[in-house]
Amino acid sequence: MLRSPRRGRMALFAAGVGAIALLLAAVFWRTGAAPWLQAATATKGATAQPTAVPSTPAAAVATPDISAGTTPSPGPTRVNPNTTQLVDDGKVIFRYDTFGDEAFWGGALKLNQAILGSSQGGTGQGVSPKTALDVGLKVDMDALPASLVQQLKANQVNLDDPATTVSLLKLNSVVGVRGLFDGQGNLVSMGITCALCHATVDDALSPGIGHRRDGWANRDLNVGKIISLSPDLTPVAQLLGTDVATVQQVLAAWGPGKFDAALAVDGKGFTPDGKTAATLIPPAFGMAGQNLHTYTGWGSVPYWNAFVAVLEMHGSGRFFDPRLNNPDKYPVAVNSGEWNTNNQPDLISSKLPALQAYQLSLPAPTPAAGSFDAAAATRGEALFTGKAKCSSCHTLPLTSEPGWPIHTGAEIGIDEFQASRSPENGYRTGLLKGLWTHTKGGFYHDGRFATLNDVVNHYNAVFGLDLTSEEMNDLVEYLKSQ
Ligand code: HEC
Ligand code: HEC
Repeated sequence: MLRSPRRGRMALFAAGVGAIALLLAAVFWRTGAAPWLQAATATKGATAQPTAVPSTPAAAVATPDISAGTTPSPGPTRVNPNTTQLVDDGKVIFRYDTFGDEAFWGGALKLNQAILGSSQGGTGQGVSPKTALDVGLKVDMDALPASLVQQLKANQVNLDDPATTVSLLKLNSVVGVRGLFDGQGNLVSMGITCALCHATVDDALSPGIGHRRDGWANRDLNVGKIISLSPDLTPVAQLLGTDVATVQQVLAAWGPGKFDAALAVDGKGFTPDGKTAATLIPPAFGMAGQNLHTYTGWGSVPYWNAFVAVLEMHGSGRFFDPRLNNPDKYPVAVNSGEWNTNNQPDLISSKLPALQAYQLSLPAPTPAAGSFDAAAATRGEALFTGKAKCSSCHTLPLTSEPGWPIHTGAEIGIDEFQASRSPENGYRTGLLKGLWTHTKGGFYHDGRFATLNDVVNHYNAVFGLDLTSEEMNDLVEYLKSQ
């Protein structure tokens, strides 16, 4: 009988497998066990300690453990040198890098001359440390020599003299402001860094002077007032296609803790009801795990960092977003060509990875024990995820939805003005970690709710939650505990 060729091959294959099996069996016989079998036995031996076995079968049933065993140790690669380097570099960039923006703040706006004042060869009265602290600027005491710290403590420093401000700038101690000095030590220009708006100090020495707190929103900072110190606002007026008087009006309306990032692309200074269109400065901590950033979800951290560094700080670099090439919505960005900026040299793009890594590394600070009622906060959490339905948007522990956390104003019971200025036409679900660090200026993008109680009252009314006043209080204590 003829065997089919196919069967023949199968038979050969079977014979081959058999031979390999025999060979393996011989090896096992010689060594006692295959290496992988030995490893498995060792692991089993290690975990099969009497203490590791649940004492009763009932306990085993009550806590089914599908994660099966201990988490593998990350081993020596736990802190990857690249990660450390990125975060360290990002910290320096965040605190000190101007991206070449001194060409704008010093060169065009001549704010260095306003700081100096006419007595030091600049213009106007000059900016004394007292004035600087009054407009919300902060001083990093760790950058000061010990002798100066002692003198400050003893009230022996003249805080009314603009020359002192220049000395503080020379020490690189004014948070978020860089002075540029010539060979003779003259202040010839100045620039700003991310830390200007997104860092404060802990007031350890005196109000406004202390150790840096990176990522904290500076709600004391009156950016509008600082910019309007400029002896020449024509560059801003030209950029926005308006006159200096209008620019002054817009800047005066911002007030402490606010800045208007969208102004540079849409030119809208005021809401339809005549209020400032500026938004509160948010924290830059607690960003890890969040997809969309800004109150209205413009984009990711590196997206927004490029936007801010190029369009707001006026650093030198590349920014591209074709969504802004829309003359109806973003007339300023289209006229100026800023939606597709390519300034040389590019001092920004190469820094985005480290800058992002640093921001993602900043945790939201935890509130001091005793700053909230812990029992009420525990009850509040149950309400947050239950009856009050907060977590349907503020997904814990992120506090915003994983995915696309964008909502219309109507969904949260507010107007659409600020949402309509963003390419996504929505509001990004608010981030609720570290709320206690930025109670000044209020809540929601424009601070329309002065307190957390007001926020909860608003939700209670809009969503018809039927919360008792005790329940609302519990929710507020929970928010304070975050
Ligand atoms: C002049 C003040 C100012 C400066 C300087 C500034 N920012 Fe901001 N930043 C703001 C304001 C205001 C917003 C809110 C914008 C909005 O949503 O309308 C914001 C938003 C953000 C957000 C979004 C936070 C969130 O909740 O999603 C991040 C992140 C951020 N900035 C990082 C930076 C970095 C990094 C730099 C430096 C490259 C920088 N900012 C420079 C004022 C500033
Ligand atoms: C439909 C989705 C949604 C629900 C439900 C919701 N929120 Fe919000 N929440 C938002 C959005 C969007 C914002 C941003 C609003 C803004 O910035 O103007 C926000 C902002 C906030 C803020 C302000 C954060 C800040 O930094 O100013 C707080 C506090 C807050 N929500 C708490 C709650 C609580 C408490 C509940 C439950 C009672 C709740 N939210 C329910 C979407 C929601």
